[in-house]
Amino acid sequence: MDKFIIHGGKKLNGSVRISGAKNAALALMPATLLASGKYEFTNTPDLRDVTSMAKLLQTTGADVVRNAHSLSINTFRVNKFEAPYEHVKKMRASIYVLGPLIARYGYAKVSLPGGCAWGPRPVNLHIEGIRKLGAAVKLESGYIVAKAKRLKAAKIAFDVSSVGATGNVLMAAVLARGTTVVENAAKEPETEALARFLVKMGAKVEGIGTNHLEIEGVDALHPVNEEMIPDRIEAGTFLVAGALAGGKIKVTHCNPLQLTAVLTKLEESGASVKIDGDTIELRAPRNIKPVNVTTAAYPGFPTDMQAQWIALMSLCTGSAVVTDAIYFDRFKHVPEMIRLGADITLNENAAVVQGVKKLKGAKVMSTDLRASASLILAGLVAEGTTEVLRVYHLDRGYEHIEKKLQSIGADIKRVSGQEY
Ligand code: UD1
Repeated sequence: MDKFIIHGGKKLNGSVRISGAKNAALALMPATLLASGKYEFTNTPDLRDVTSMAKLLQTTGADVVRNAHSLSINTFRVNKFEAPYEHVKKMRASIYVLGPLIARYGYAKVSLPGGCAWGPRPVNLHIEGIRKLGAAVKLESGYIVAKAKRLKAAKIAFDVSSVGATGNVLMAAVLARGTTVVENAAKEPETEALARFLVKMGAKVEGIGTNHLEIEGVDALHPVNEEMIPDRIEAGTFLVAGALAGGKIKVTHCNPLQLTAVLTKLEESGASVKIDGDTIELRAPRNIKPVNVTTAAYPGFPTDMQAQWIALMSLCTGSAVVTDAIYFDRFKHVPEMIRLGADITLNENAAVVQGVKKLKGAKVMSTDLRASASLILAGLVAEGTTEVLRVYHLDRGYEHIEKKLQSIGADIKRVSGQEY
């Protein structure tokens, strides 16, 4: 397992190009199961989760070829309608094959994902949604087994707004008979990107980008090519790095409109933010002001930025409360951050962060994707040397993070497992 060694205290200055969005790629790739043929994607991020999804699609019989940021998927030979445990345990987004497989082939067997590093992450809404669309669903030996002749439209009102369940229901309903209505649908940009992709394939979807979707089922879809949207969480992470350790940094090739909540909070913390087309320039605050955040579904402050925000607030000039209203247990980074000298008290799903004057380097353990990112951010400003162990989590969702950070002045290097 690789680790990162960071010598803190270097100012960040310069420009970082943002990659394609992991969560869009993970939704669009399984959508190719909805129509046989060849698809070409550009701006696909080079990430371990994308590799995992590619492998999963290969097990169904699809041909997948990757070349840098181009991804070609041919679903002509798909003949196995399963997502085995070995794949799903590595990546929960594997459950995205449920909707397209049941809609197109009338059968899907998908392993239940089980727990996640930071706590329970149920899939009841996915199952209920598919059931409402007329599939017979059983849970058997750790698998969701769904069968249907042809799905039928339904009215689905989600109790909780869920990105994954909305995606699965969308992918199932596009081939169902009749018009499906989804209330309290997720409207995250990655869900919107999925809906637009489906429309390009011939689906009929109204209300894209809102909480109310109407999906008129069609008999067949066709393959198309698509460019992945930019990764708003990667952009947000680099902007927080800039606010903590800049200088002046620019993130390019992103969509600033999808980052409004994060940019507003960054400005409240004292950073100055300028938007120019697809580029955001951020000048770090002289002193980081305390800013409370509560995570919420889009367009609220993303839960995927909560850990990074705690890293920023660890050096604020007061006290800030960071509440996660989406995932109540998502705080595995807090004890590690405390090892770096942060002053944080956890109170249920709220972290009370009392700003300290400085952090001090230490060995810390990365536990999940965004937690790992927050530890790197803290390491960039900690005095001395920080070692972030088990960085394979990071490789799931950040493309060449150390190279991008080096390019703007950070002293960070990857040491591969064999070298220590
Ligand atoms: C997606 C993102 C993840 C992000 C999360 C919330 C992908 C691949 N992952 O995950 O990065 O952190 O959205 O923005 O896009 N819930 C249920 N029952 C369900 C499903 C979800 O109760 O069947 C709850 C969850 O526990 C959570 C909330 O709904 O409290 C939102 O989760 P959801 O949007 O489904 O997250 P994911 O799609 O798994």
